[in-house]
Amino acid sequence: MRRQMLDQSVAPILDALAEHRERADASFTPPGHRQGRGIDERVIELLGLDVFLAEAVALGGLDDRPPGQRALGLAEALMAEAVGARHALFSTCGSSLSVKSAMLAVAGPGDRLIVDRNTHKSVIYGIILAGIEPIWIGPGWDADAQLPHPPGVAAIGRALDREPAAKGVLLVSPTGYGTCADLAAIARLCHERDRVLVVDEAWGAHLPFHPDLPRCAMHAGADLAVTSGYKMGGGLEQGSVYQLRGDRIDPAVLKLRADLLGTGSPSPAIHAALDGWRRQMVERGRELLGHALRLSRQARAGLDELPELAVAGRDLVGPGRSADFDPLQVVVDVSGAGVGGADAAGWLREQAGVEVGAVDHRRIVARLTYADSEQTVRQLLAGLRRLVNARSALPAAVPVDLPDPAELEPEVVMLPRDAFFGNSAMVPASQATGRVAAETITPYPPGIPAVVPGERISEAVLDYLRAGVATSAMRIPDAADPTLETMKVVCA
Ligand SMILES: Cc1ncc(COP(=O)(O)O)c(C=O)c1O
Repeated sequence: MRRQMLDQSVAPILDALAEHRERADASFTPPGHRQGRGIDERVIELLGLDVFLAEAVALGGLDDRPPGQRALGLAEALMAEAVGARHALFSTCGSSLSVKSAMLAVAGPGDRLIVDRNTHKSVIYGIILAGIEPIWIGPGWDADAQLPHPPGVAAIGRALDREPAAKGVLLVSPTGYGTCADLAAIARLCHERDRVLVVDEAWGAHLPFHPDLPRCAMHAGADLAVTSGYKMGGGLEQGSVYQLRGDRIDPAVLKLRADLLGTGSPSPAIHAALDGWRRQMVERGRELLGHALRLSRQARAGLDELPELAVAGRDLVGPGRSADFDPLQVVVDVSGAGVGGADAAGWLREQAGVEVGAVDHRRIVARLTYADSEQTVRQLLAGLRRLVNARSALPAAVPVDLPDPAELEPEVVMLPRDAFFGNSAMVPASQATGRVAAETITPYPPGIPAVVPGERISEAVLDYLRAGVATSAMRIPDAADPTLETMKVVCA
């Protein structure tokens, strides 16, 4: 842990909000509800007045004070210090937007960027928006578990050698399964070639605050990371943080790129929650996350008593697999109980009052955080025990044939931006082979884009997608026609 120079016991945005509330000024500036006075009481009954009271200082006090007294700037400096970054920037537009701005900060129209194919859709949209030429790097693939792992160091080294003009590498780590890339080794490879490493760390905002969690992007030496403060942390939804390290990316450029897409009216409540969570983590992160780690061990021990369910653990780590994993992501394979992930999750929600965080065809993921307790873990385990007992009443799992993503090597024939914004038409899927896609098609499972705008649609991809959709075990939510009867292709 680095030595702290700033007074981490303060939370300047919370203080500014408290001060604003105390002053009770007559305000003639948005928000129009005037600190909640105009809000319908039925809304207050559910949301409470405090939500609206917090929407008070977007103009009056947070960022219009003299430099040095700006609450937002100080809160960001405190966050940067807390996570081992040189700079931090808060965003209120979710990591979906931060990922795009981060990409725009390192690559522009026509630039090449080495990108992890097992990515969130915001990365694809960032590629389209920026006019980036993606150099895809496939995930590691565990064929038995039908599970993608982050790309390995050797594969990234080869891509960097093959693409000397690429601006750098963009990876997702941790993934939604909690699996992590070897960021320290990959950062070294990038920096040896003076390239940048950008990490979509949406699932890793908590990592800097406990030594037994995987190493976070900043500690591993990445240049830029984006975290979602609310996924694994205590932020409000949409609270996201850019973290910047080293001097390969100019913070002023990042700020400009963030402004290009961001809102001019950021929610002070979202900023305040990030600020308060940072203070809480600096002061008590070790204790609170230590407790969460103990709960994870309890959950795993409980699951070990259910032979029909298999919980992923250190088996996720090793050569050809992941470099590390976050034990707070409790990944449970339900296929041994003969049920599918979505049916198990639906049953748990409806019959056991348990909402899990993610689902694939054979797994559910229960995400523990610093806010969980013995009680919530008991509820999870009780729900899973009941699920096992009720399994014969659930639909039988439908097997899905998932090829190794490497077998579906995409042929990129146009910039994704040109294909996305150019002329396009819907054609029957039977006529789509050989055409250039004008849309993204991401089948779930495995949640890895099979087709990205600008790629030639191969027979192999089409067969795999249509066979998957026919089983009803595969969904394609982002396709213009999720039934895949028709596909959106580029036309001249
Ligand atoms: C890996 C990854 N990156 C980025 C995002 C976008 O985050 P947000 O929901 O904060 O916009 C998500 C959302 O789930 C994600 O899983």
